[in-house]
Amino acid sequence: MSGIRIVGTGSAVPARMVSNSDLEKYVDTSDEWIYSRTGIKNRYFCEDEKLYELCARASKTAMERAGVDPSDIGICISATLSADYATPSNACMLQRELGLPTDIPAFDVNAACSGFIYSLHIASRFVDKERPYALVTGGEMLSRILDMEDRSTCVLFGDGAGAAVIKYDESAAFYGTMGSRGDNEALVCGGINTEDPHVRMKGQAIFRFAVKTIDENLTDILDHTGNTIDSVDYVVCHQANRRIISHVAHKRKAPEGKFFMDMDKYANTSAASIPLALDDMVNRGLLSFGKGQKVVALGFGGGLTYAGALLEF
Ligand code: UT7
Repeated sequence: MSGIRIVGTGSAVPARMVSNSDLEKYVDTSDEWIYSRTGIKNRYFCEDEKLYELCARASKTAMERAGVDPSDIGICISATLSADYATPSNACMLQRELGLPTDIPAFDVNAACSGFIYSLHIASRFVDKERPYALVTGGEMLSRILDMEDRSTCVLFGDGAGAAVIKYDESAAFYGTMGSRGDNEALVCGGINTEDPHVRMKGQAIFRFAVKTIDENLTDILDHTGNTIDSVDYVVCHQANRRIISHVAHKRKAPEGKFFMDMDKYANTSAASIPLALDDMVNRGLLSFGKGQKVVALGFGGGLTYAGALLEF
């Protein structure tokens, strides 16, 4: 696999923040239940914002930090299951909004919560010495497809967008895993214009799938790259539930803080979750560009899908 390095990140969320207590107005729930079962405190819900606008804001920051112009981008991939339109794709809207070149591929990837890592894998196959930069976004407007009368799902998800600029770099580490297991029972969303357009989830089935796939993929990535949990700087899992991540961290006897978590801020934002977390880490000073820090990122979700990658900053 081509070596790639993450050279810029950015993020954007809608203006409206919704706390756990705010959700008590919609369903029979409590801040105590939500926080203790998931680690979630707040999330953002869109009002008038468009997904492509959020992704464009996140992308501008990522490109500024990477020191690249839109004309430098050689491929644009957008991971999402909740784009503004079936067509044009979110990536095509980004091409227009950002003024990306017109002679590059721009397309969306739907692998639910694994989508951002899937997209990094795809981008890594396209970049080369001629066109070394790719723009990869993960963004969702899940509030549009939540049933606000279903307490088992509406408290879990949120909206947001994260972006990364990646650069072809033969010296950088990049190895990953990806997979899928067709299943339309554990986690389903019919989407707009279907009989049931909302997200429906069998939480405990996904919980078991998550713990198993995170653990297996982490082992695969560490073993294959000759790393250990100590030799990588951070592990960044899809931010669905604190208990899922704590379970894996505990099993690995990982030191406090090795497994980054920020679901308290954003809740579960599906494809946006990992790029939002990476940008959050940059903003907190945990990750810096060009320092060679290594991160294992691990996604899992609807499909069912999973994906992992060793990333270098
Ligand atoms: O991005 C996709 C990946 N998704 C995930 O990773 C989700 C994985 N699963 C989970 O995170 C957890 O299974 C949940 C957070 C979804 C649920 O937690 P749980 O500990 O598995 O709870 P549960 O579904 O077993 O429900 C326990 C109780 C039930 O009540 P009874 O039957 O024991 O009386 C639920 O009705 O909690 C009730 N409940 C709630 N109570 C207050 C369910 N949702 C709520 C709620 N507020 N929002």
